[in-house]
Amino acid sequence: MKSFLVDQDGYYGEFGGAYVPEILHKCVEELKNTYLEVLESEEFKKEFDQLLRDYVGRPSPLYPARRLSEKYGCKLYLKREDLNHTGAHKINNTIGQILLARRMGKKRIIAETGAGQHGVATATVCALMNMECIVYMGKTDVERQHINVEKMKMLGATVIPVTSGNMTLKDATNEAIRDWCCHPSDTYYIIGSTVGPHPYPDMVARLQSVISKEIKKQLLEKEGRDHPDYLIACVGGGSNAAGTIYHFINDERINIVLAEAGGKGIETGMTAATIQLGKMGIIHGARTYVIQDEDGQIEEPYSISAGLDYPGIGPIHANLAAQKRATVLAVNDDEAIEAAYELTKLEGIIPALESAHALGALKKMKFKADDIVVLTVSGRGDKDVETYLAFND
Ligand SMILES: Cc1ncc(COP(=O)(O)O)c(C=O)c1O
Repeated sequence: MKSFLVDQDGYYGEFGGAYVPEILHKCVEELKNTYLEVLESEEFKKEFDQLLRDYVGRPSPLYPARRLSEKYGCKLYLKREDLNHTGAHKINNTIGQILLARRMGKKRIIAETGAGQHGVATATVCALMNMECIVYMGKTDVERQHINVEKMKMLGATVIPVTSGNMTLKDATNEAIRDWCCHPSDTYYIIGSTVGPHPYPDMVARLQSVISKEIKKQLLEKEGRDHPDYLIACVGGGSNAAGTIYHFINDERINIVLAEAGGKGIETGMTAATIQLGKMGIIHGARTYVIQDEDGQIEEPYSISAGLDYPGIGPIHANLAAQKRATVLAVNDDEAIEAAYELTKLEGIIPALESAHALGALKKMKFKADDIVVLTVSGRGDKDVETYLAFND
């Protein structure tokens, strides 16, 4: 049977792999040779599941959104990752990776962050496990997501503002990789999305797969069948989407819809719609679609949403798009904002700007009345309230 999951060599079709500088080769090999054994051990699973339950508050609810369902003419459920401790799906992954780092004897944790949700989640688990934590964040994002910066500091992390490029997620990731190159032996790099060299995309997808595991069980309870007709999620690097689709990925009855950031419009040059505009390239250790110029230089992406403002895309999603297993929609800044206000008014839920892009996809789709649609609300909107208000001024 055709599989859309990773193959033995770390590829999804022609996407993925591990393209790293020589100095990191050993670290990546060590991780590759360790992660599956650890993630599949009973001892790890027990500790991970217990923390997801008692610390994160899982399972997250699958909420039947009545008024939104009426509006879009389908049975719409929201997977409420916004209700997790620290306010987004990112904590599922950081808990898993910190448990792995501890088992590998690493003492120093580094991370990159865009919206700050992965930074906050990493700082949180470092506080919990008493580990040193350094977070790289583009200066633009430090400014637009300053509440998260204060939280990281309060949690004891060192936040390093990055001033290269357009000072967003790509630049923060570059800096984190540079740090890793300087401290390969004692440092563990917690990547926050399904990006980076193999085994990161697969490891992050597995750690986030709890989302789809729960959706299956919750749908069976609520609808008497364990699968929806549609799954919708936003994609920055792709981790909340990977978690949402993981256990459904090879079941082609289910339509997968990925919402990427159109920015000011995909034809304007101010966009982060990587899957639609990217060409094959290498970014942060993986072969995938990259927004680049004719000389192969990475172009600066743009999105109002710091978490989607990335010129690459996880190889798992690049392959889904290339194989036409997923439908990819670009949702522009204004469409996302409108969708965020709509959710707030109809359901009393203020979503993160990233999640608002998934909601913005609804307007671009046509459903049948009995279609079961599950949309992942990847995070809550507390960090974005100022942006929402400023946009509507
Ligand atoms: C709430 C939220 N959703 C989505 C994303 C995008 O990341 P990913 O595509 O890995 O889920 C981010 C990234 O910061 C985020 O904070």
